[in-house]
Amino acid sequence: MNDLVATARSLFAPGKGLLAADESVHTATVRLASYGIATGAEMRRQYRDLFFGADGIERYLSGIILFSETLLEKGNDGKLFPASLAERGIIPGVKVDGGTEPMSASSAELITQGLLDLPERLALYRKQGAAFTKWRAVIRIDGDQLPTAMAIHENAKRLASYAKEVQSAGLVPILEPEVLYEGKHSRARARAVLVETLGTLFSMLDEHSVDRASIILKTSMVLSGKESGKKDTPEEVAKDTLDALRESVPSQIAGIVFLSGGQTPDQATENLAAIAKLAKEGTTPWPLTFSYARAIQEEALALWKGEEANVPAARAAFLSRLEKVSAALG
Ligand code: 13P
Repeated sequence: MNDLVATARSLFAPGKGLLAADESVHTATVRLASYGIATGAEMRRQYRDLFFGADGIERYLSGIILFSETLLEKGNDGKLFPASLAERGIIPGVKVDGGTEPMSASSAELITQGLLDLPERLALYRKQGAAFTKWRAVIRIDGDQLPTAMAIHENAKRLASYAKEVQSAGLVPILEPEVLYEGKHSRARARAVLVETLGTLFSMLDEHSVDRASIILKTSMVLSGKESGKKDTPEEVAKDTLDALRESVPSQIAGIVFLSGGQTPDQATENLAAIAKLAKEGTTPWPLTFSYARAIQEEALALWKGEEANVPAARAAFLSRLEKVSAALG
């Protein structure tokens, strides 16, 4: 087994998953403001420290996805964040895409940017302690109109170019083609879009000669649209999600992680538990775990309010959610 495969597989240690703490400056600013928390670079550093400085997170987290600015910041203990995580056995990774912009030929859809200076940035991030990377593409569903085949194709092409560059730089790629939960669509439509998105992605990865063994897929669960009025049961979500993944994901990849996508913390935990249970009953070829941002941070953020005095209560809420999500893996 080469080093990349070993790193990718170690992110799937039993009972552990990933914290996606890679909100860009813009997203972090909007997120903090939505909880009435002051914004700015120092508050973003404290926001990261709230989570990374919580005692015992290494029991539940195999890795943390950072934003590039966080690679260079120090926690309240005076240690650089990547070094302090690595000391506790948590593998630091980094988001390397440059965010999305509207597609010129289909302005209601998004294309992810960031390939131009990628090789230089990868060399730098590696020196700064990152062992894996993430690239997020966004696929929007709107009735039968969206996504267009072009948006799926172009995003898959960029994900494949990203993965190839990352492997050449000696890092593990996480590929995240997020099919958005927002919308009025049915679960059947979400499932069909996921199958098309992943089918296109994996043929593009073959065209680019990406080594399957060290890639990690970060995927949405198959859910009825958030504005559809339908509340799926965890069993429905688990069956459709695993059916779609079995249909479109090759068995050789290192593993699959799920994003929470705007589900509530309980919903993301219950759906993960049902997926993990069904996967064990039916033998899936890949290890599965979580890579959540919102679903494991929001309870803590609501308690923290940006105030030092609230740090212990916020960290306790974070650990309690991590314990539940870890237990959901079975
Ligand atoms: P959510 O779990 O909030 O969907 O975030 C995951 C992620 O990494 C989005 O890029």
